[in-house]
Amino acid sequence: MSENDETQQPEEQVPEAEGAEAKGDAGAAAPATPMARVDDRIVAKRARERSGEQREVTRRAVLRTGFFATMGLTLAAGALASWNFMWPRKLAGFGGVVSVSAERVPKPGGDPVRVVEGKFWLVNLKPEEGTHGGFGETGQGGLLALYQKCPHLGCTVPWRPTFEFGGKTGWFRCPCHGSTYTKGGVRVFGPSPRPLDTMEISVKSGGGVEVNTGAITLGGIDNPKRAVPYTT
Ligand code: FES
Repeated sequence: MSENDETQQPEEQVPEAEGAEAKGDAGAAAPATPMARVDDRIVAKRARERSGEQREVTRRAVLRTGFFATMGLTLAAGALASWNFMWPRKLAGFGGVVSVSAERVPKPGGDPVRVVEGKFWLVNLKPEEGTHGGFGETGQGGLLALYQKCPHLGCTVPWRPTFEFGGKTGWFRCPCHGSTYTKGGVRVFGPSPRPLDTMEISVKSGGGVEVNTGAITLGGIDNPKRAVPYTT
């Protein structure tokens, strides 16, 4: 064998497995030192603390959201209740406008008609009717709405078509203490401090009327003058 042959002879191959084993041994983690173990414990502790803080933050956020939501709902409910209370409503029956059809309106000089839903008597006075013996001021006649409540102590005053008093038949006469009123509601007898109160009345086309039972005027000797002209 020549010198050249000796030179060109390939180097002895190291098996890859052995090489890998050798590398693996070299790259394996060195056994943890006591200091490294302490560091690991500190890191783990901090991670646990961060986790606890996050849970606390989440709980606070839920409580805060719940508080503001409840407060918002309470305020909204209060505002709604106030709005509901203050919003004007159209009242039906006593306190509001009560309609009376033309058929129910009494004839001039006829007996008053009781309108129960409005708590008033509808009267149709003839000219100069509704006064008696110097009580009351005469008017031109027409419609009056008399509040049925006695100004004395609040009893309901009925119309007594057959009751005679002072040589005349037909009076409003209170059953409680005897206060007596003309067809125009003028007091002529009894403890009542004033004539019957009147309500605002308006005549509609077709002969029906509307009485605003929320618009009550204290009764006076001018009751017959308050009558609204009514022609059908
Ligand atoms: S309540 Fe009508 S007279 Fe007394």
